[in-house]
Order: sequence, then C-alpha cells, then structure tokens
Amino acid sequence: MPDIQIMPSILAADFGCLAEGCQRAEAAGADQIHVDVMDGVFVPNISFGPEAVKASVAAVSIPQNVHLMITKPQNYIRDFADAGSDTIQIHVESQCDVQETLAAIRALGKRPAITLNPETPVESIFPCLENRWVDEVLVMSVHPGFGGQKYMASAEAKIATIRRMADWVDIAIDGGIDNETVAPAAGAGANLFVAGSYLFKQDDMKAAVAGLREVARKNFCKAL
Ligand code: DX5
Ligand code: ZN
Repeated sequence: MPDIQIMPSILAADFGCLAEGCQRAEAAGADQIHVDVMDGVFVPNISFGPEAVKASVAAVSIPQNVHLMITKPQNYIRDFADAGSDTIQIHVESQCDVQETLAAIRALGKRPAITLNPETPVESIFPCLENRWVDEVLVMSVHPGFGGQKYMASAEAKIATIRRMADWVDIAIDGGIDNETVAPAAGAGANLFVAGSYLFKQDDMKAAVAGLREVARKNFCKAL
C-alpha cells in the first residue's frame, strides 16, 4: 500500500501568522505542508510566492508540497526549488512545455508532479505516467482558486483511472476534503489528501488528521 499522507493547506491558515499555522499542522501530525501559489491570472485569486515557502520551511521540518496555479510555471521553478519546496506541482493546462518543465523540476532534485482541473480530461496526463515524468499526480476536486468549496465527486473516476494505470504513483486529491469525502477519494485510489478549511477550523487538529488518515487507510482502493 502506498503511504497514506495528510497535507494541510496553509491557504486556510491565518495569513498574519503563517509560521504558527505551519507549526500547528506539523504538531497535529501532518505529513507535508501544502502551499497554494496563485498568480491572479491562471486562477482568479492571488496568494503566496516563494517567500511563503521559505517561511514555512523555516518553521517546520516536514516537506513542502507546492501547488503552482500560475500561467508560466517554467519561469519560477528555480525560485520555488531554492525556497525549499520538496514536491513541485504544475498544471497541465498552464502555458509551458510540460515535459521540459517536469524535467527541470527533477534536475533540481525535486519531486515533479502534474495536476489537472475538474474539466480537463484525464487522458491529458497519460504521457506523464507512461513516461514517468512525475512522481505524483494531484487531482483537483474543486475549481482551483479558493479554499472552502464543495467536493466534486467527478474526481473519483479520474483517480481510479490513474490508479489502475500506475500503482507506483502518488495520487493526491485537492479540494473539499473532510471526514466524509476522504472515504470515496481513498476508495478510488488516492493516497495523499490535501485539506484546508476542514483541518484549520478544528479545535483539535490532531484528532482530525488522525481521523482522516484512519478513514483513508480503511477505504484505500476499495472501489477498484
Ligand atoms: C484550491 C487549492 C486547495 C485549497 C483546498 O485552489 O488548490 O489546496 O486550499 O482547500 P479546501 O480543503 O478548503 O477545499
Ligand atoms: Zn492546492
């Protein structure tokens, strides 16, 4: 079984004390910090740049899972690598040569990952799997840009297709994950779970992280 991991998204943390948000997630048993980078063009919102990744790296010792919702990710790979990212996710819909950009991420010693929007067919990422350009796929279960949106179950068919094709790949799901939606997502074969608003609104984040992990473990690949 691939590692089941929980990745709190600091988009849902208090921007006035980001370091504390990261530390809270780490203390709660999170496996990685998910950093949502938005440029206001690829998505209708602006969030963090490489400095936020640096601040998170300085605050915690768990890996940084960096989701680039930006139009030209190829221009910023080095900045995010230098900032301390561990996994760098680019969108298949962005304006870049996907193969080259993923290779650049790997050449910098980072884990390359591809991500796709809800309306994008899963076939668009097949070359990334067939040629092993990626270590991870991030399936969007909301339209990217904002936290706190409703989970779209249509992501599950994509996850199942990817899991059947590639048992070696990490499949992350991002958007609307909570103690209920985690079950069908894991059932389809996801093993990494981004959760923003659900985790940061908890009084006991540690129990919530453990709860997500337990439900994910129990349900993993059950629907395949
Ligand atoms: C959306 C981001 C998500 C977001 C998830 O564009 O990619 O990572 O922070 O937030 P929740 O878990 O609140 O849907
Ligand atoms: Zn994200």
